[in-house]
Amino acid sequence: MSGYVWLVGAGPGDPELMTRRAARVLGEADLVLYDALVDPRALDLAPRARRFPVGKRAGRPSIRQETINRLMVRAAQRGQRVVRLKCGDPFVLGRGGEEALALVAAGVAFEVVPGVSSAVAAAALAGIPVTHRGLAAGFVVVSGHAETAYGPVLDCLAPHSLTVVVLMGLGSRAAVASRLLARGWSPLTPAAVVLGASTEAAHAWTGTLGAMATADVSAAPSAPGTIVVGAVVSLAAVLGRTSEADVSAVAVGAVR
Ligand SMILES: C[S@@+](CC[C@H](N)C(=O)[O-])C[C@H]1O[C@@H](n2cnc3c(N)ncnc32)[C@H](O)[C@@H]1O
Repeated sequence: MSGYVWLVGAGPGDPELMTRRAARVLGEADLVLYDALVDPRALDLAPRARRFPVGKRAGRPSIRQETINRLMVRAAQRGQRVVRLKCGDPFVLGRGGEEALALVAAGVAFEVVPGVSSAVAAAALAGIPVTHRGLAAGFVVVSGHAETAYGPVLDCLAPHSLTVVVLMGLGSRAAVASRLLARGWSPLTPAAVVLGASTEAAHAWTGTLGAMATADVSAAPSAPGTIVVGAVVSLAAVLGRTSEADVSAVAVGAVR
C-alpha cells in the first residue's frame, strides 16, 4: 500500500466539533503528527496510530517546520498513512499551505480535511456572530504574532467597517488596540478576548477597545486566545448566555 497524508483540521478543541471525515481518517492512521493546541481528546480517535507532538507554542522551543515536513514525507514514502493534525482549519494561519507544498514537491499524495477555524468558532461559542445584519457585513482575520503581519491590514480598514478577529494576539493585544485607536476606532468599540473556546478552560472577557490592553486573562493563563473587535461583540451579552436559566432571565428581562 502506498503512503498518504491527510492535513486535518481538529477544530478549536472539543472533538465533537471535528468533522466526520477527520474522525474517520484518524481511525485509519498509522501515524499522527499533532500540534500543541490539539485537544488530547482528539487523539483518542486514533487508537491504532503512533502519535508524535510536533507543536510550536509562542515563546517555547519548537520543532522546525522543515523537520515536520520531512517527518510527514518520509513516513508516507515508507507506506504509512499519516494524519497531520492541526488546530482549527489547516489552511488558516497555520502553515498548512506550506506543508501541502512540501508534499507536492516530494510527490506524496495528500488530501486536506478542513476544520472549524477558531477565527469563527471562538467568537461563536462566546455568543458573538462575526457578521450580523446592521452591525458588520464582513470580518477580517489577522495574526497578532508580529506587527508587520497585522499592521498593514489594520491600517487599510475604515474604522468600524468590519469585525476584526486576531489569532495569536494575546501578547500583542495592547499594540493591536493602540493601532486601531490611532486609526480612528472609538475606545468604546466592544471587544472580547475568548480563551480556550470549547475546552474546560473556556473563559471570555468582554469590554471595550479602550480597556482591551489591560483585559484580565488570568482565568485561563495557558489557554490560547482569540480577540474580537467590533459592534458584534455587544451581542455576547445576550447570546453568550446559553444555559436554560440564563436564557429565561434574558427573556423575562426582554418582556419587562
Ligand atoms: C497557530 S494559530 C492556528 C489557527 C487555526 N489554524 C485555526 O483555524 O483556528 C493558533 C491560534 O488560534 C487561536 N485558537 C486556537 N484554539 C483556540 C481556542 N480553543 N480558543 C480560542 N482561540 C483559539 C489562538 O489565537 C491561537 O493562538
